[in-house]
Amino acid sequence: MHLFDPITLRSVTLRNRVVVSPMCEYSSTDGFANAWHFVHLGSRAVGGAGLVLTEAAAVSAEGRISPQDLGIYLDEHVPALRAVIDFIHQNGAVAGIQLAHAGFKASTAAPWNGGGPLEVDGGGWRPVYGPTGRPFKEGWIIPEALTPEQIAQKTNDFAAAAKRALDAGFRVIELHAAHGYLLHEFLSPASNQRSDEYGGSFENRTRFLREVISAVRSVWPDELPLFVRISASDWIEHGWQIEDSVRLAVILKRLGVDVVDASSGGISPDAKIAVAPGYQVPFASRIKKESDIATCAVGMITQAQQAQSIIERGDADLVMLARELLRQPYWPLLAAAELGRDVAWPPQYERAKPS
Ligand SMILES: Cc1cc2nc3c(=O)[nH]c(=O)nc-3n(C[C@H](O)[C@H](O)[C@H](O)COP(=O)(O)O)c2cc1C
Repeated sequence: MHLFDPITLRSVTLRNRVVVSPMCEYSSTDGFANAWHFVHLGSRAVGGAGLVLTEAAAVSAEGRISPQDLGIYLDEHVPALRAVIDFIHQNGAVAGIQLAHAGFKASTAAPWNGGGPLEVDGGGWRPVYGPTGRPFKEGWIIPEALTPEQIAQKTNDFAAAAKRALDAGFRVIELHAAHGYLLHEFLSPASNQRSDEYGGSFENRTRFLREVISAVRSVWPDELPLFVRISASDWIEHGWQIEDSVRLAVILKRLGVDVVDASSGGISPDAKIAVAPGYQVPFASRIKKESDIATCAVGMITQAQQAQSIIERGDADLVMLARELLRQPYWPLLAAAELGRDVAWPPQYERAKPS
């Protein structure tokens, strides 16, 4: 298998296995996509990626990480997204959206404004929600524990957002169940100390995510793929472990999930993460092999040969790049040339193609 071999997921064929990893741009007003998103996502489609995923798009206003997050919680958000999607599709890539709720990490400032919790008089909001009343860390906003009725409402929010994503023209949805945001907060024993049917056992902690997947699958057509990003390990002793991820992935496949995107961390400030090139690839590899589901590898993948080896060895079906694609939107076109694959360049840029 080659990085530049196409891959078909349900009815959707990606021209190659390079995916633009979701990246918050903190550039929206009231959740709307604008010229920044058009250029940012559009240029990565021009750059040759197979799948272009948006940043985490909030399924409700209070589920935004920051006031500047992209959102898909209003029907009015759809037209601006449609323009971006059409451009991505006209340029040979497939457009996907990451759906998210920030949970106890909601109402924070953009990173370049410090990234910490944002007070109401500084543009933040209350309440923010979590599985319990425990904050992400000391000094952060104390969340309100979601009631079962509110959990059902959040589940509906994900489904309504998925319906809007379909109307907008997205062909892939990724649910964000990683990085310490709401769905992950329920999965992890480090953040979920509930004693009702949404806490305690593995079955109870995975219930919310399972309900969200079922609700999303009921409005997202059978012919379109569904991805779930998880934190495959919390990197703490009493947290979520890779063995939990393998077990979860088997269930996700049964629920109609096509790809597990294996990221890690984010639930605890005490996590000791051994960051190095390709450090999360073993998670994608183990989930793929032990759960028999397609996976996506992400995290410090920057070199063409490195990405090719991941695909060739069968460690993952897709590779996602984030920061390297910020440095170099045309990374896929250049990587193909480096790997000796003749891929089509946009005709406008044809004269720059390495011979
Ligand atoms: C600017 C920026 C914004 C990010 N926003 C998101 C996001 O919205 N959703 C998400 O799941 N991960 C997000 N991430 C994490 C990336 O998708 C990716 O998993 C991480 O950066 C590791 O990949 P890399 O080493 O290729 O950068 C973000 C990363 C960066 C650098």
